Amino acid sequence: MSFNFSEIFKDQPKEKLYEQLYQMAEGLFFDERDMLANMGNLSSLLYYNLSNINWAGFYLNRNNELVLGPFNGKVACTRIAIGRGVCGTAASENSTQIVEDVHQFPGHIACDSASNSEIVLPLYKDGKLLGVLDIDSFEKATFDEEDEKGLKKILDLFIEKTDLLI
Ligand code: SME
Repeated sequence: MSFNFSEIFKDQPKEKLYEQLYQMAEGLFFDERDMLANMGNLSSLLYYNLSNINWAGFYLNRNNELVLGPFNGKVACTRIAIGRGVCGTAASENSTQIVEDVHQFPGHIACDSASNSEIVLPLYKDGKLLGVLDIDSFEKATFDEEDEKGLKKILDLFIEKTDLLI
């Protein structure tokens, strides 16, 4: 299977963009079920194909603490308590966090001062917390419900196609 990443255009309606990203993800997961391999490639796919992104990656649930997993971007905080910051809140509440301005989010953990907005989606399987997907942007108010919908679909595919270590 070959991938042509140049076929993705960032400047198109988000709905179309996410359709293409979903197809790319299907290709990536087609013959690979390893969790770290799929998380690594999915981080890269999102980092390079969404607009204004400075960080995209996973934090994994390790004994009820979020620990840095595969990502693309600058070095980041390695451990986040469940319930702390945007990632910890998404994990503890099992709800997507869309933050238009991270500087206004109480307890936001500033790993990279370039981040201005972010979206964090929790990853649960059979009621168990696997971790979170965290995507950060240079710009304020980058993410909306369209991103949540598109990313959720890709994460559902990831969960279905990957052997999860939880
Ligand atoms: N923004 C996160 C911290 C992780 S870094 O941004 C990669 C938070 O407040 O949860």
